[in-house]
Amino acid sequence: MSNTTKSLSEIIHARHSVRKFDSSFSISKEEIENILSEATSAPSSSNLQPWKFIVIQDAEVKKELRAIAYNQEQVETASAVIAVLGDTEMYRNAEQVHQSSLEVGFIDEDRKKLLIDNVNKAYPYAPFEARANIATFDAGLISMQLMLIAKEKGYDTVTMGGFDKQKLIEKFNINERYIPIVLIALGKAAAPAYKTTRLPIEQLVQFV
Ligand SMILES: Cc1cc2nc3c(=O)[nH]c(=O)nc-3n(C[C@H](O)[C@H](O)[C@H](O)COP(=O)(O)O)c2cc1C
Repeated sequence: MSNTTKSLSEIIHARHSVRKFDSSFSISKEEIENILSEATSAPSSSNLQPWKFIVIQDAEVKKELRAIAYNQEQVETASAVIAVLGDTEMYRNAEQVHQSSLEVGFIDEDRKKLLIDNVNKAYPYAPFEARANIATFDAGLISMQLMLIAKEKGYDTVTMGGFDKQKLIEKFNINERYIPIVLIALGKAAAPAYKTTRLPIEQLVQFV
């Protein structure tokens, strides 16, 4: 289904929120892993990569998730629903992230120590809300990448904020370190997305 001839601009304009999916169509675990892996090239604050994913493919679980997502049909009919979680203790990733840069020769020991010290001086002492804001913003960046990568591969998506976060936490036993950000339904469109417009650029931009 890959379509490598499309430009980024074409993909951006082709992506719209699909809410009718072919419920008989499945996407393999490997392909979803591949989409997620590509999406992790997204930037993040101090490269701490504050995201986790729960991929729901099981029909029964999708049915239960539909109830948590205020009965939104696409939750049950999409091939998979990806719950994007933000990691509010992202500073715990610093050692692994910079060790990996060291091992491939991008940084030396001194730089690694400096980068980790900088993280450890700031992030653990920041209020929970500040860390949640960072995690939410970064999870938004990776979500956007995910949607465009999926589109490039011939799939469609819809991002959903309309779900009961507390119920999702209980259903999947999500550790309090993580906060649910969005659900992304992924699959093969059975009907086109509604057409949408955007505000005129003149209204949004100020050149100084
Ligand atoms: C954070 C976020 C939450 C959203 N929540 C929902 C949702 O719960 N249900 C839904 O059908 N669409 C949801 N959407 C999709 C928007 O309605 C959609 O992106 C917007 O109308 C623009 O349309 P387009 O994506 O087709 O270009 C959400 C989008 C975002 C970015």
